[in-house]
Amino acid sequence: MNAFLNWIEARIPMMRVANMHAIQYPAPKNMNFWYVFGFLATIVLVNQIVTGIWLTMNFEPSAERAFASVEYIMREVDYGWLIRYMHSTGASAFFVVVYMHMFRGMIYGSYQKPRELLWIFGMLIYLALMAEAFMGYVLPWGQMSYWGAQVIVSLFGAIPVIGPDLVIWIQGDYVISGATLNRFFALHVIALPLVIVILVFLHIIALHEVGSNNPDGVNIKHKKGSLAEEDKTKYEIHEYYTSKYDIADDIVPFFPHIVLKDLVAFSIFLFVFCYILFFAPEMGGKFLEHPNFEIANPLKTPEHIFPVWYFTPFYAILKAVPDKLFGVLTMFAAIGVLFALPWVDRSNVRSWRYRSGLHKVNLIVFAIVFVFLGYLGGTPQENWKIISSQIATIMYFAFFVALFLYSKSERTKPVPARISK
Ligand code: HEM
Repeated sequence: MNAFLNWIEARIPMMRVANMHAIQYPAPKNMNFWYVFGFLATIVLVNQIVTGIWLTMNFEPSAERAFASVEYIMREVDYGWLIRYMHSTGASAFFVVVYMHMFRGMIYGSYQKPRELLWIFGMLIYLALMAEAFMGYVLPWGQMSYWGAQVIVSLFGAIPVIGPDLVIWIQGDYVISGATLNRFFALHVIALPLVIVILVFLHIIALHEVGSNNPDGVNIKHKKGSLAEEDKTKYEIHEYYTSKYDIADDIVPFFPHIVLKDLVAFSIFLFVFCYILFFAPEMGGKFLEHPNFEIANPLKTPEHIFPVWYFTPFYAILKAVPDKLFGVLTMFAAIGVLFALPWVDRSNVRSWRYRSGLHKVNLIVFAIVFVFLGYLGGTPQENWKIISSQIATIMYFAFFVALFLYSKSERTKPVPARISK
């Protein structure tokens, strides 16, 4: 057996890669609750791909058959209901874990140098994920699928000069039709998942090149010769790292330490996921909206059109601006500014543990504003909500402006050279 494994290893670096990127990957020993969401996002990604493949076996991507084929999956296919609910609940779970994952990056300054590119890859994943979720929601061809697509695709019509032609090009027809459904299906089942998987791969490679950040924001990779002899490694870490860095006892090997933490998180996640799956798969109309149980009808507009909950903060920003083109630009700016975060934040200190009270307040207010925008964008329009969403939109952007202004000369606490506990 050993000889066989050695034979393989001499030809393809299976164990070397496994050691470098998983088993012996040097992880900061203080990784906490916030560090489980990357692992959970990976699990959900696998769930989406596997259940997606099984759904595709019985789904029919045509305007005539799509709705009925979903009903067929729910009622006739063995465990079809389970596979569909795993996929639809998985979509919402994806955004829950990704939002937590992003907020972790914000509180511990994980986007700061040298992790800017890692953050950019993350943002590209987020964009691809939004496109993936949007197109997936069109596929069952219910009322919300149809009218949601109508609202979103028509946004491109606001672009001057090329707008109207662009809409026709995206739709593949003069209206949202079976042709649109068909191309969204192609993009949803193969093109975007491929892009997401490649981006996740690059995300991990970028992370492992610079090393993980941690709740203290302390650098755990010490350049060769920069540590005292007694500070050096306690652990057997792969020679790749020991040849480049002096490893200190700031770190633990990924296996078993971090794997065990991740498994605890996974079991808790599984409890919550299964509870929703078996007892509240529609989540009161939040995960699967009620109008989507009716087949798409181009002649009947639903009373209220909302996107699914994970898009509602940006939808509220879109609706806060009276002018359509300016609304679309503001909405894209709200996503775009997140890409610029590594350069907006000019502080030398990463973790909020060692940053000013002002920064902590700014971050917490930002999180509250984001959730509030989500509420505003996901409930029926009322007068007070229009002005509230305008104020909340201004506050959303004010977070970045304030951060840019105070971060350069912020009063921070001294950051320890090594992980504190
Ligand atoms: C499919 C979606 C994603 C997957 C599967 C994924 C996966 C991972 C994994 C496994 C890690 C290492 C473990 C951890 O730190 O939690 C990680 C780290 C990280 N991810 Fe993601 N990620 C995703 C989306 C994103 C997004 C949308 C962003 C932000 C825009 C992002 C930013 C980061 C950052 C900054 C780190 C390093 C954190 C640190 O070391 O403190 N990721 N990601």
